[in-house]
Amino acid sequence: MESVTNPPFRKICKRYGVDVLISEFISSDALVRKIDSSCRKMCFGEEEHPIGIQIFGNTESSLREAAEYAAGTGCDFIDINWGCPVRKIAGKGCGSGILNDIPKMVALTKSVVDAVSLPVTVKTRLGYSDEDKPIVDVAERLQDVGIEAISIHGRTRSQMYKGNADWTLINEVKNNPRMKIMVFGNGDIDSAEKLVEYKKRYNVDGILIGRAAMGNPFIFRQCKQLLAGKEKTDATIQERVDVCREHIAGLKSYRGDRYALLEMRKFYGGYFCGLSNFKPYRIRLVTADSYEQVEEILSDIEEHYF
Ligand SMILES: Cc1cc2nc3c(=O)[nH]c(=O)nc-3n(C[C@H](O)[C@H](O)[C@H](O)COP(=O)(O)O)c2cc1C
Repeated sequence: MESVTNPPFRKICKRYGVDVLISEFISSDALVRKIDSSCRKMCFGEEEHPIGIQIFGNTESSLREAAEYAAGTGCDFIDINWGCPVRKIAGKGCGSGILNDIPKMVALTKSVVDAVSLPVTVKTRLGYSDEDKPIVDVAERLQDVGIEAISIHGRTRSQMYKGNADWTLINEVKNNPRMKIMVFGNGDIDSAEKLVEYKKRYNVDGILIGRAAMGNPFIFRQCKQLLAGKEKTDATIQERVDVCREHIAGLKSYRGDRYALLEMRKFYGGYFCGLSNFKPYRIRLVTADSYEQVEEILSDIEEHYF
């Protein structure tokens, strides 16, 4: 996830039990031009395996070249993003914009499969518009050109993030007798209980958790606990503060103080979700303008909530 699954946060998620990690999405055009900020997104640590590098683009030459370059990092698979709904991406025919042109989607995917010896996977949505959701056919066609797994977010491009994710079509893809590759479901999983229920109900090979993990990597531990038939444990306040500190420190050494300060703002709500009367602390955290101030607020939180 863009600006979320960078190395410091992935490291934490891994420790909490994630099975498979995927990089932020990376522009294939930018990789071809060796743009620093994009190349840096391909960095990962040894402990992160299995990890996929996710690329997006809309031309055969850039996608092929980017895939070859990404494969050279030693990652375990290449994931193609055919799911991003954001206008500046989809409007150019990248991400979920390609769902307007399925033959091109299939051809571009095949060119990536042919370009690298690593497994290639695809992340996509049900379709472009709410009137046409061709995912069952699309999944088969992508399988036929050689992808090894498909992750499906149960929304259309037009839906963006509105409404509820529809998992019934994901289930149809999985139950299609012609499908042999792994089918992963995605959309609106916000608790370990829901993950367990959806895994069973929709019969998928795996589940991707997005927004609910932001500031809540503990959800992966809880999922693992429930899947193993154990009781789930909630993170203590001390654990939340400690992991939040670790996350900030990681971002700081990854990209510097300013970056850490700004990027962390979207995580505080998750780290401290459910704490009573937390709002004043949250406001202080998201308006803090130095790393030292953040440290001070975290100490205040520790003191206040213990
Ligand atoms: C801030 C943000 C960044 C995202 N970046 C990516 C991305 O780079 N690649 C991708 O495949 N999906 C990306 N997504 C979509 C999520 O992976 C996921 O498909 C979507 O949020 C639905 O799952 P959820 O309900 O579990 O969040 C992003 C979502 C958000 C909110």
